[in-house]
Amino acid sequence: MSHSLVTMSYIVAAILFILSLSGLSNQESARKGNYYGMLGMAIAIIATTLSASVTVYSVLIAAIVIGGLIGAKAALKVEMTQMPELVAIMHSLVGLAAVLVGYANFMDSSIAITGVEKTIHEVEIYIGILIGAVTFSGSVIAFGKLSEKINGKPLLLPGRHWFNLALLFAVIGLGAMFLQQTEAGGEAIIPLAIMTAIAVLFGIHMVMAIGGADMPVVISMLNSYSGWAAAATGFMLSNDLLIVTGALVGSSGAILSYIMCRAMNRHFLSVIAGGFGTASGGEAAAIEGEVQPIEAEEVAKLLQDSKNIMIIPGYGMAVAQAQHTVNEITKLLRDKGKKVGFGIHPVAGRMPGHMNVLLAEAKVPYDIVFEMDEINDDFGNVDVSIVIGANDIVNPSALNDPNSPIAGMPVLECWKGETTIVLKRSMASGYAGVGNPLFVLDNTRMLFGDANTTMQAVLKALKG
Ligand code: TAP
Repeated sequence: MSHSLVTMSYIVAAILFILSLSGLSNQESARKGNYYGMLGMAIAIIATTLSASVTVYSVLIAAIVIGGLIGAKAALKVEMTQMPELVAIMHSLVGLAAVLVGYANFMDSSIAITGVEKTIHEVEIYIGILIGAVTFSGSVIAFGKLSEKINGKPLLLPGRHWFNLALLFAVIGLGAMFLQQTEAGGEAIIPLAIMTAIAVLFGIHMVMAIGGADMPVVISMLNSYSGWAAAATGFMLSNDLLIVTGALVGSSGAILSYIMCRAMNRHFLSVIAGGFGTASGGEAAAIEGEVQPIEAEEVAKLLQDSKNIMIIPGYGMAVAQAQHTVNEITKLLRDKGKKVGFGIHPVAGRMPGHMNVLLAEAKVPYDIVFEMDEINDDFGNVDVSIVIGANDIVNPSALNDPNSPIAGMPVLECWKGETTIVLKRSMASGYAGVGNPLFVLDNTRMLFGDANTTMQAVLKALKG
């Protein structure tokens, strides 16, 4: 394929990626956005494969087949609830690829450039490996935390900020040494290898220091890093499409991190510095009071007697796969003339947009699905709120206990409605590991059991 045809294909692919991102910003157009992305990626892979830079096809095809098979197997096998872990591990692979490409570039003796161009290329290699290594190790730890293989509690080493600062200075110093050594034809691999080890350590430390409730920000931040790692690889390989795609992922990830921080009332820097919400020193208040259980038939009766119903889904709905039953109940209630809405917290579930995906899958109409900000002031008019497997996102202590690890995070204020029904299996805490005083409020009733089973029972009672 001629160079100009490859460039043209890259431009088409880049446009498709931009269309894909804009499509994904809206539920109605998300499916189309995905198709644009797939088409863009197919064009990019074909154009790169047929470009003059590929000389050994056997290795490339073997890599595509092996990688494709592993990817397809992982995607087919993964449960919807394990999606965030899969995304985290994919980010780590992007980071690892950037590191490997960086080292391959460093060792490649066929690259014949000199002077400023050579220095720029070396800086690209150094930065690419640095971002790649941080992304790699940070994502592996994020994977561990999300899959609960590593404790979600923040690891707060004494003097950790100084430690990070020392690592930063070491990386800058080693960078200068690396450039000097390459210039002098010395052992530049030594500062490069030490920097890689430091970057890996920094990635581990950074994510270990971030508390469970702040993990949403970490995921989007690592998403952003993986984009910058890809862009850096693009610079190393002089591949324009990789630079554009990396920059798109990097900047959209950064915007998402910002949105997440705003939604959780966090400062980005304090999340990254780690241990947010644990610095107040005090103990979170203990939860005291009596739990009032309720049966499915009584819930159905309450719903029959109410006019305005708000459904608040959380991670437990994803675990129970209760969305289809929830949709059937919604249809039934709306047919009976009830007003039914869905309140979605920005960090409900385990990944951005998690609840929206589940509700769209069950074909819940988009126009009754509301963002937290749109409906949080309306709970005074709500007769019954049904909290389906949610916990942290409806925890009042976020607003009134300054010592709570989730203090300051806005939550759905369902307790301001007449009655709240909470569906969960036990009194266990949610992701952030904190007790929830909502469960013992006077106007709260607990419907214990797997959310799909209990919702089925409510549906049966409603039909009966
Ligand atoms: P959580 O606070 O984790 O609460 C989920 C609740 O669902 C649990 O208390 C659990 O109680 C219940 N549950 C689990 N399986 C269930 C089942 N089969 N049937 C019924 N209930 C079930 O979830 P949330 O309220 O959605 O809040 C999200 C949390 O995850 C936040 O802390 C957020 O920061 C964090 N997080 C979010 C993201 C993103 S991007 N959304 C990413 C990482 C972390 P039982 O065990 O008693 O049933």
